[in-house]
Amino acid sequence: MALFWRKGTPPKLAHLAEEPSPAPKPGDESQELIERFPEAAGVLDESGRFAQVNAGLDRLLGRSCIGRSVLEATRSGELAEAAQAALLGESVERELPLPSSQLQVRATLAPLARKRALLVLHDLTAARRMEAMRRDFIANASHELRTPVAAIAGAAETLLAGPLPPDDARRFVEMISRHAERFSRLTRDLLDLSRLEAGEFRAALGAIDLLPLCESCLDLVRERAKEKELALGFDGPQELRVVADRRALEQMLVNLLDNAVKYTPRGGRVTLLADGAGAQVLLSVIDSGPGIEPRHQSRIFERFYRVDGGRSRDAGGTGLGLAIVKHLALVQNGEAGVESGNGGSRFWIKLPAA
Ligand SMILES: Nc1ncnc2c1ncn2[C@@H]1O[C@H](COP(=O)(O)OP(=O)(O)OP(=O)(O)O)[C@@H](O)[C@H]1O
Ligand SMILES: [Mg+2]
Repeated sequence: MALFWRKGTPPKLAHLAEEPSPAPKPGDESQELIERFPEAAGVLDESGRFAQVNAGLDRLLGRSCIGRSVLEATRSGELAEAAQAALLGESVERELPLPSSQLQVRATLAPLARKRALLVLHDLTAARRMEAMRRDFIANASHELRTPVAAIAGAAETLLAGPLPPDDARRFVEMISRHAERFSRLTRDLLDLSRLEAGEFRAALGAIDLLPLCESCLDLVRERAKEKELALGFDGPQELRVVADRRALEQMLVNLLDNAVKYTPRGGRVTLLADGAGAQVLLSVIDSGPGIEPRHQSRIFERFYRVDGGRSRDAGGTGLGLAIVKHLALVQNGEAGVESGNGGSRFWIKLPAA
């Protein structure tokens, strides 16, 4: 609406009696823009100090940045240099670490009017960590797969090279069979784990009677326990029900029992214990084995992590069992963990009671 009046005598109009909202001060609009910007951002003035910043920038850098130089705010000489270049009119984009916050960021700098510059920081830390994990996973998986394949190829070559005494030939065939078994277990575990990690595993939850399930899991390791003269047993109430996925629960218990039998020395004891605790059921696999040092305890649930790589690999282990247990517990709204000392270990699973 245009209002006309004679110069010097503004009319007193009723609808203007209320104070008009003040015209935006220079910089207000750009402050609004910065605040609404979806990334951490700030405007540097001619002297290289932050004249405007948004909450995202303060949060990312863990301090109030207004009035600080880029070097003060980020402790990054590289970013301070890039900011200087932007203040001189150059557009810069760079990926760099921020020493102040241990973050990896992509910094985008653009020159603005009046010798100022816009700085935008995009946090790449999680993405880079994911990539490193994926690279690690592939390297570890290839390494683990190579071992049985090399053993199979070696044994087959020996068999092909010429006639062997029957006993030797049998030894090599057994070796092929053992490593083929290991290879197939490894690929199955890898597939399970990648499905779990990708969130593709859907648990079929239902009420399950624990006693028969525990007994059938114990049956699967009974033979090996006997060979090692281990006392193997179940302890718990006759009637206890959980909400779980039957196959997933079996896989978890077998993995824990398999470890307990594998790592407990001859003549020891392995007990599967079930315990109702209010809305939850606690299942524990307790062994009288060597125990696990505290520094390893939080890490053994990571895939491929083994306390003693050589010994575990000799025992046929790949370090995937506990990672699978941890994921399976989570998809069944449960939790898994360990307590361990000199006298042995207790691996536990908590699940909702039925
Ligand atoms: N009951 C236990 N007592 C002592 N150490 C254990 C026990 N259970 C697991 N560990 C340690 O934790 C590591 C990881 O266990 P995990 O079950 O993930 O792998 P693994 O048994 O080596 O191989 P996989 O289960 O894939 O065959 C083992 O290598 C072992 O060092
Ligand atoms: Mg295991």
